[in-house]
Amino acid sequence: MSTKNDILSILENEKGRFVSGRELAETLNLSRTAVWKAMKSLEDDGHKILAVKNKGYMLDIKSDRLSEEGIRVRLPERLRHLPIYVEETIDSTNTQAKKLSLAGASHGTMVLAEEQTAGRGRYGKRFFSPRGAGLYMSIILRPSNVMSDLQKITIAAAVAVCRAIEKLTSLHPQIKWVNDITLDGKKVCGILTEAVTDFESGGVESIVVGTGIDCSIDEALLPPELRGIVGSLGVEGLSRNWLAAEIAVGILESFGKLEDEEIINEYRRKSLMFGKEISFRRGNDVFCAVVTGINDMGNLLVRLKSGEEMILSSGEVSIGSLKS
Ligand code: BTN
Repeated sequence: MSTKNDILSILENEKGRFVSGRELAETLNLSRTAVWKAMKSLEDDGHKILAVKNKGYMLDIKSDRLSEEGIRVRLPERLRHLPIYVEETIDSTNTQAKKLSLAGASHGTMVLAEEQTAGRGRYGKRFFSPRGAGLYMSIILRPSNVMSDLQKITIAAAVAVCRAIEKLTSLHPQIKWVNDITLDGKKVCGILTEAVTDFESGGVESIVVGTGIDCSIDEALLPPELRGIVGSLGVEGLSRNWLAAEIAVGILESFGKLEDEEIINEYRRKSLMFGKEISFRRGNDVFCAVVTGINDMGNLLVRLKSGEEMILSSGEVSIGSLKS
């Protein structure tokens, strides 16, 4: 690690508190000038650092640059070794994570970016990912057996995202089946779970879970088609590094116990779907139905107007009537 990274780790660990220059110099065996230079360089990178005579340096509580160090210090000891890649600009963190996975990246590897130029959503949709306004993160999971229940992983990830938001804010997000997290009826997070298949064996070699959270997107900057649909957490002082660490811990912990009833029960509790009228397409037909439940596999149970019961395992549903 470089001097700058060492200092950033300490500042992130002590975020919102002053650390004396003397203490930093002594701990890292550096001159006071080297500490000062590192601070200037961190400021140039966009970290908000306060320097006060006789007090030292403090990472402002509102400083919200993504960094490997900022995430690592929020991970529990047992996960501190995980590889974390933080990019300024990338096409898509999921695409990059898939590439890394094929190159042998280990279970738990994380890829994040301040901005995505080709962020991907489900069904080939684009995921709007402006610089600094969201948390765009992908995590590589390596199944120990030949499992590939992507739906259950998405469900566990949705619960992990909600838990992380609830832990770090006073918000109470809800889940719109299957992979959207909402606040006050607006989407604030989407999840894209993708399998990376081994070309030779055809088996699932790894799974990439991508989460895109809108943290502070200005409504006026949204593309017109997203206005009124996409929202934002809008919590001042929320650390995206901390949020990333909490989500990663949640996803990694649930991955080992996907069959655990607690996950699907919590998913059901947080779901906004029950009793709602929905519409969805099957081929060229549009169906209207009422949601009656979510089964243990995470499939949506619905009753059509005709009284017929259906189980939806995939596809998009709209609450209310379907937009054409
Ligand atoms: C959806 O809403 O359909 C899913 C959106 C998933 C977006 C995230 S952002 C991080 C990761 N990288 C991507 O390109 N997509 C996912």
